[in-house]
Amino acid sequence: MCGIVGYIGTQPAYSILIDGLKKLEYRGYDSAGVALLCAKGLKVEKAKGEIAMLEARVGNNFPEGNMGIGHTRWATHGAPSDINAHPHCGCSQEFAVVHNGIIENYLSLREWLEEQGHRFISETDTEVLAHLVEHYYDGDLLRAVSQAVKMVEGSFAMVAVCEQEGDKLICARKDSPLVIGLGEGENYIASDVPAFLKWTRHTHILEDGEMAVVTASAVSIFAPNGQLLQKEINEVTWDAAEAEKGGYPHFMLKEIMEQPRALRDTMRGRLIDEGRDINLTELALTPQQCQAIERIFIVACGTAYHAGLVGKYAMEKILRLPVEVDLASEFRYRDPLLDPNTLVLVISQSGETADTLAALRLARKRGNQILAITNVVGSSVARDADKVLYTWAGPEIAVASTKAYLTQLLSLYMLTLYLGKQRGILDGQTIAEMGTALCRLPTQLESILGREAELQQIADYLAPWESAFFIGRNVDYAVAMEGALKLKEISYIHAEAYASGELKHGTLALIVDGIPVIAMATQSAVLDKSLSNIKEIKARCGHVICFAREGAISFAQEVDRVFHIPAAPDILMPILSVVPLQLLAYYTAVARACPVDKPRNLAKSVTVE
Ligand code: F6R
Repeated sequence: MCGIVGYIGTQPAYSILIDGLKKLEYRGYDSAGVALLCAKGLKVEKAKGEIAMLEARVGNNFPEGNMGIGHTRWATHGAPSDINAHPHCGCSQEFAVVHNGIIENYLSLREWLEEQGHRFISETDTEVLAHLVEHYYDGDLLRAVSQAVKMVEGSFAMVAVCEQEGDKLICARKDSPLVIGLGEGENYIASDVPAFLKWTRHTHILEDGEMAVVTASAVSIFAPNGQLLQKEINEVTWDAAEAEKGGYPHFMLKEIMEQPRALRDTMRGRLIDEGRDINLTELALTPQQCQAIERIFIVACGTAYHAGLVGKYAMEKILRLPVEVDLASEFRYRDPLLDPNTLVLVISQSGETADTLAALRLARKRGNQILAITNVVGSSVARDADKVLYTWAGPEIAVASTKAYLTQLLSLYMLTLYLGKQRGILDGQTIAEMGTALCRLPTQLESILGREAELQQIADYLAPWESAFFIGRNVDYAVAMEGALKLKEISYIHAEAYASGELKHGTLALIVDGIPVIAMATQSAVLDKSLSNIKEIKARCGHVICFAREGAISFAQEVDRVFHIPAAPDILMPILSVVPLQLLAYYTAVARACPVDKPRNLAKSVTVE
């Protein structure tokens, strides 16, 4: 995610801001910028690329100043570029703003501001914040920011500066983190503690709806109703490496825990009215274009391919359209049958996977319409596709994909609802039922994430084994495949996934006393069948660890261990059921002392064939 740094005090601000931004580099970014208040007013510099590019541009000539703001941007609205980088200014260049999050209603705000005479230069949602602050400014920056954020729908952590009030930084947050670092005669603001850990360990944590006025000598924090708050001072006890991971021992665990937030960000502005309606405005497909689709071809690699398999179950069930899923590395060499009315759906977290990109280009050559689901704005896949549906998971640092996968699933469900609506085959009530169920998932997920201890116990059983099996029926099979991949790649235990009904066609020969078999049982329609398959394993003394839908009581008596998963509509269960498998893989890898975030032989972005 993007990074925010702010400083006000007596030291030269530029080097503190740059230093702070470098401490946030681990979060991933594609451009950087600073705004400094110096003798001649606000000086803004920004550059696409690494912070080193910004430093090279600035050289030794940046004017001195003791307050300023800095930002590392990870593109959401508008490709990475100098202009789209933060800070953003109003028309007058007297106001500058840095912002993390997504402003959902930025287009309507932009239109309104343009009618008021404001001129925009970037493609970002953030620029509206700078113009709103400028618009409402009447000599009181706090009041202007407060009015600006009232206009905004979506999520934000922001800091604003203005020339006229050079003794303060104003910050505000909603659904995006912001912390204030407390120094002696100087204060700091950041989206994440590592940015100022070198200077102070004392912090105030800003909560949703709160705003703060930060000067060199004081910090005043206000509740949403404007009341001045007495906030406690927190002491950071983590070291710098831990702080980068938000206090978690590994990025993978941090990213697993971030999934409720990633889901909420990805559905924001798309599942409208708490899920009662769906609108993917970015796709801008007409009902006629949607109706013309006769077949969908999903192409991806690894975890993204597993997401595609879930998508197939959902789309075929709901849209009654044939869906084929292919590994990108196979697709490109097998001369696939693509007729003109086939929509090619490409899924890639990084947007740079060589095989996926080659598959996309093959489909392009054949003249097919290409829709991409990706996490990286401006990536090669995003640029080469006709339409892009972005996942808003934020940068994923651990090699093993978790939050990107989950947001890919959500995007596939939303795409299914959208196509169903545009094709006229889903009525309002069905959309509302599915949409509201989707909106409930982040909260249900939080309840699963709070049950780590149960999974740690299962991991202790799994850790000494060199082989494990995953089974599932229907969409549970697709989840089993992802669970097995997670376990393999980070714990180095050989794991295979099978459709439960296939065991007796060969694999049952491998079931020996105590061998771990992870059985998924979340699909109401096939619970009885799943139970029969479990009994086949139990009869051969396999050790069955069952991930069962809440309410599937009989499973507890038949298996060795059971982990109950909160109930959702069958087709949506993968979003909930895969997460305990991610945690299981994680704790097993930890128990085996594996390098969780960087498994051997693997890379985050596979840019070779
Ligand atoms: C596994 C994993 C990989 C990727 C695959 C495709 O945890 O992350 O299997 O899913 O390399 O990568 P993207 O999605 O970037 O195309």
